[in-house]
Amino acid sequence: MKVRKAVFPAAGLGTRFLPATKAQPKEMLPLVDKPIIQYGVEEAMASGCDQIIIITGRGKQSIEDHFDVSYELETMLEQRKKTDLLHIVRSISDMIHVAYVRQKEALGLGHAVLMARELVGNEPFAVLLADDVIDNPVPALKQMVDVFNQKQCSVIAAQVVEGKMISSYGVFETAPAEGFNGRLFEIKNMVEKPKFEDAPSNLAVIGRYILTPTIFDCLAEIKPGAGGELQLTDGMRLLLKKEKMYGYIYEGRRHDTGDKLGFLKATVEFALKRDDLGAPFREYLKALKL
Ligand code: G1P
Repeated sequence: MKVRKAVFPAAGLGTRFLPATKAQPKEMLPLVDKPIIQYGVEEAMASGCDQIIIITGRGKQSIEDHFDVSYELETMLEQRKKTDLLHIVRSISDMIHVAYVRQKEALGLGHAVLMARELVGNEPFAVLLADDVIDNPVPALKQMVDVFNQKQCSVIAAQVVEGKMISSYGVFETAPAEGFNGRLFEIKNMVEKPKFEDAPSNLAVIGRYILTPTIFDCLAEIKPGAGGELQLTDGMRLLLKKEKMYGYIYEGRRHDTGDKLGFLKATVEFALKRDDLGAPFREYLKALKL
């Protein structure tokens, strides 16, 4: 089975980024000049997915507009002969087939993923949390697809998180596995946002998942967990009772763009890498003499 569909939960309220997110989805905040969610959609496409499913909610209209054709803008750019910009704008709407499902209430990540059940059907699929922007020549999801293609089991992204910050994540209990340059492990258990003292390891769940469709039955059974929310981690715990699952320590640099400091760091690093902005921006930063 191949991973063709990528689900983006995007119905969250974005409270960590208020007031910017009062009237604008957090997924649309730009890193330099591209909305955060577009980085994720491009990663999914580069990893072989050809169908995008975005779980939206109230106030998320601009995400749909972003991936849709904008006739007025295109006509104006055409008339003014702004071909470069026209190309950029067209490439977004030409990108890929995007479907939307509404999550009427923000009941948690597990509930959001369950909303995609009808559209995903009976095949393996990817889930990407757009907040986690992962920068690497070979996309993190592509690396995981390679694991999936060999193992035909669910694969969850993992990263080492040292110290008390581990309590902000889902955390793995692991067992060794062969291959993939020591990056692969078997998942024995996992727990959402444990206390530091109770964390079973320093390996955190990061926002890239490849899941088998059995997850939907599991998600339909879960009860509210950490923070009173229906947690994807709790659904995956049930999945573990039915199927083998792997964790994979991806190669790449991850930015938590849902956090203000993480967002600033990502902005600086992405700007420095740009052909058009990198050099003058570097000069500017040097001149600050921090
Ligand atoms: C979510 C997941 C958590 C995971 C994290 C990664 O938490 O529930 O398991 O470790 O994403 O970014 P959130 O950041 O939505 O609280």
